[in-house]
Amino acid sequence: MTDAQLTETSEALNAEDLLEAIFERFPSVPACLTCSFQAEDMIVLSLLRQSLPRVPVLFLETGYHFTDTYRFRDQVARDWKLNLVNVGPHTTVPQQEAEFGILHQLDPAKCCQIRKVEPLMKSLELFDLWFTGLRREQSPTRRNLKKIEHHKLPSGKTLLKISLLADWSWAQVWEFTGKHQLPYLPQYDRGYLSIGCEPCTAIPVSGADARSGRWGGKKLECGIHTFSEKTGG
Ligand code: ADX
Ligand code: SF4
Repeated sequence: MTDAQLTETSEALNAEDLLEAIFERFPSVPACLTCSFQAEDMIVLSLLRQSLPRVPVLFLETGYHFTDTYRFRDQVARDWKLNLVNVGPHTTVPQQEAEFGILHQLDPAKCCQIRKVEPLMKSLELFDLWFTGLRREQSPTRRNLKKIEHHKLPSGKTLLKISLLADWSWAQVWEFTGKHQLPYLPQYDRGYLSIGCEPCTAIPVSGADARSGRWGGKKLECGIHTFSEKTGG
């Protein structure tokens, strides 16, 4: 199957079949998963590790995650023997706060740029396949997400961004998690539905969309899914 055929047929394939088609087309291409250990990421990881047990699992270590998230990350990394890669920024939290103040309050875009976007941009240079747990349902900014997208990094490097669960609903995520008894972040049991850095994550008010608790509803994206340029392929 050519790249174009794969991109075209990908939308009709379920997550497992799409993964199989990708590995057939790209048998030994460097691949990674960006993983915040949310339920979607745990599903993609559970599928990926069946074929690629040592797949690099990139965790953007902002220094601002929930204690529960760090604990969960470390537990899963141990239990699943993950090749966990903590991707960090060039400044520590105390250094950043001393220099700029509390950026997640004063200028969250700058904070995300320093602590997430720039470190990820550098890390992705090593890979040709970038797996994510993105879903279309998560946000209006993700409505047009394709399962396979061609992306260009600011350096000019191109790679395939793959979102196996692009067409999944939240109900499907939860059903798969239960059926396969996947571990999940304990914050879900407290009412969180989308979980990022602690200062920028709240429990959504009843009836509001899942990501309304992120950045107090003031912004929809941190930038890691908008800095690269989607190209035609
Ligand atoms: S975010 O851009 O608003 O933070 P979201 O929390 O919805 O994104 O997660 C979507 C996808 O972004 C995840 O499936 C994962 O691929 C990636 N991602 C988000 N946060 C992180 C993180 N801290 N470390 C690694 N990947 C992340
Ligand atoms: Fe900073 Fe909040 Fe972005 Fe985390 S999500 S990097 S704390 S602004």
